[in-house]
Amino acid sequence: MINRQWTVAARPQGVPVATDFELRESELTRPGDGEMLIQVLYLSVAPVMAMYMSGESIAQRPPLALGDVIHGRGVGRVLVSRHQDFEAGDIVHGQMGWQTYCVTAALPEDRFYRYSATDLPAHLALGALGMTGYSAYCGFVDVGEPRAGRPVLVSGAAGGVGHMVVQIAKNLGCAPVVGIAGGPEKCAFLQELGCDAALDYRRDDLEAQIRAACPDGVDLYFDNVGGEVLDAALENLAFGARIVLCGSIAEYNLDEPRGPANYTRLRRHDASMRGFYVYNHEAGFAAAERAMADWIRAGTLRPVQQITDGFEQLPAALMGLYSGANTGKQVVRVHDEGET
Ligand SMILES: NC(=O)c1ccc[n+]([C@@H]2O[C@H](COP(=O)([O-])OP(=O)(O)OC[C@H]3O[C@@H](n4cnc5c(N)ncnc54)[C@H](OP(=O)(O)O)[C@@H]3O)[C@@H](O)[C@H]2O)c1
Repeated sequence: MINRQWTVAARPQGVPVATDFELRESELTRPGDGEMLIQVLYLSVAPVMAMYMSGESIAQRPPLALGDVIHGRGVGRVLVSRHQDFEAGDIVHGQMGWQTYCVTAALPEDRFYRYSATDLPAHLALGALGMTGYSAYCGFVDVGEPRAGRPVLVSGAAGGVGHMVVQIAKNLGCAPVVGIAGGPEKCAFLQELGCDAALDYRRDDLEAQIRAACPDGVDLYFDNVGGEVLDAALENLAFGARIVLCGSIAEYNLDEPRGPANYTRLRRHDASMRGFYVYNHEAGFAAAERAMADWIRAGTLRPVQQITDGFEQLPAALMGLYSGANTGKQVVRVHDEGET
């Protein structure tokens, strides 16, 4: 059987470009003892993949060398199992890499999970019911400690993590829930999701827009982007505010770190800023998945997955994250669920 793989052709200099990727074909190896052969159904597309391509070591994973298959989480069907915990036919999710088939067990930390919410579509294992949802829930609820009736601000609010966070905030009774995104269409999408206000960071008055939406200051700011958006949020904190540092996509491709220019605003409001890394919160994944699945079934949380068809579209989908081409969680369909 032939496997198709996207590999690192060159280290990205800033935002990745098409020549940083190379498509390769290779013979599939047979799974050994404790391994599985998986047909990849969907692959996740997330900014962390460009960091892997740049040679960063993340989650104890050794840095990628030129020519290596790009890391990425996927959901797939087990075709052959020589692993005691899984059977042929199981739908599993985990670290599969950018390839059409995967023989597992490369690294001990590459755990695979059986998809348990079988009444809901399998691709949600890469969104609300996988690492994206766990990042939103564990980061917002466990780290941010939201309070009902208090104002929440979310940047990157129309993206994969962000659109989950605004809906979790609504489910928990935070008010107002204010989302920030780029452009009028994304802002209209945020209003459809239930945001009390949707702010466009591409206008030049973000600081004033936040002040109008949260006149008494922001109690909890969930930051996905960093940069000038973070500066504007820091100018609008309430007493005791918390800032959760989830991501900083506006800064990933800069040669020099930028950092918040006005971090001293934390002092004036007895405020705090705390980072989190989802893989440090594994103890909370099961509770996160239960809560998210319950809200989806009750109709109070609507996961939006932007599904692009075709394995060959992966680089374009990754590059699109930096121009805001995605609404909701970006995934790529590699095989149809019915295809064998
Ligand atoms: N801490 C953790 O453990 C953890 C886990 C998962 C993800 N993350 C981080 O969380 C963030 C969201 O991840 P995701 O996978 O859900 O990605 P995402 O939000 O779906 O992806 C990209 C979105 O970011 C926005 N964006 C791009 N460049 C921007 C800029 N210069 N300024 C402001 N916004 C910009 C775009 O939306 P607009 O159209 O609105 O510009 C784009 O749609 C990322 O920073 C990611 O690295 C962290």
